Amino acid sequence: MRNSKIVAIGHHVPENIITNQYLSTVMDTNNDWIVERTGINERRWMDPSKDTVANMAAKATRMALERAKLTEKDIDFIVFATITPDYFFPGSGVLLQRELGLESIGALDIRNACSGFIYALSVADQFIKTGMYKTILVVGAEIQSTALDITTRGRNTAVIFGDGAGAVILQPSDKPGILSTHLHSDGRFAEELYVKDPGSSRPHQERQPEQITDTSTFKVVMNGNQVFKHAVVRFMEVINEALEANNLSKEDINLLVPHQANLRISQYIQEKLALSNDQVYNNIMRYGNTTAASIPIALSEAWAEGKIKENDLICLAAFGSGFTWASALIRW
Ligand code: UT7
Repeated sequence: MRNSKIVAIGHHVPENIITNQYLSTVMDTNNDWIVERTGINERRWMDPSKDTVANMAAKATRMALERAKLTEKDIDFIVFATITPDYFFPGSGVLLQRELGLESIGALDIRNACSGFIYALSVADQFIKTGMYKTILVVGAEIQSTALDITTRGRNTAVIFGDGAGAVILQPSDKPGILSTHLHSDGRFAEELYVKDPGSSRPHQERQPEQITDTSTFKVVMNGNQVFKHAVVRFMEVINEALEANNLSKEDINLLVPHQANLRISQYIQEKLALSNDQVYNNIMRYGNTTAASIPIALSEAWAEGKIKENDLICLAAFGSGFTWASALIRW
């Protein structure tokens, strides 16, 4: 069987910077609380006059293509991870395919929230390894700011989430690239972090906006403590699972790129794995939690800063809504 390798990475974030200071003018919150509990200083929120999930994804893709001296025409399949598509349907993959001017290639959407990018990478990895496709575009992109309750009632989520996009290109390779991916879920906790509507399983009358009084409607609802407690356990489990599957140990990791959920979660994992500050890449301070986009944005920035070198062992790990959690080990 062939190997698959990440040959390019890119990202794009909206220009519109939302500071903690700004949020404290529109809800009862403050910079100290946000920094202390989450590590976030600012995040990007979309500008409705320019940003869509698909066009941010296209900009991230073009950065990746340029860095690898590839063109749109080289792409023969798209896997698009998002929980905030531009339309309820069709999916974002087809909108990106149109945006890139590609004709008739397959496009698949993945809806696994914060773990979505690793799920998408895993799907693409299998397609490359079996020889079905040669150049797969894997994207994580989200516009979450429009589903946040930007009032004191929604402050536990409004201060955390941000918008952005990241993209990688996968191709076959002689040498190992993606060593393994590990995917998990536990739907018993689905409602601990979710957006209820537009859901389909209630009668039409109950789904009319004027009938909907539940505060969860159209907005992100999160039981932060519960999510946090599960996250720290599952992150460690799934990283150890990946290391064991490859007969490697935590000492072999050159760079951990965790999903940017909360700086305290990243620091907890860093301590458990006894990694130095240089061995864990965090950018949550600048972008908040961008769900499926967080890992590819972080990978793209880490690569641009020279923190990822040939032959390095890179570990990706994520946990989020579902619950879902996942990891990937990559020999760069
Ligand atoms: O992407 C993957 C999924 N997401 C995560 O992994 C997130 C996991 N959870 C978290 O990151 C944290 O639980 C939060 C950052 C969301 C919250 O931090 P916390 O330390 O768990 O705080 P808390 O929810 O226990 O709230 C503590 C207090 C509460 O006030 P009382 O009841 O103690 O008076 C909240 O009402 O902080 C209050 N609070 C706020 N205060 C100021 C909640 N949000 C805010 C806010 N500003 N934005």
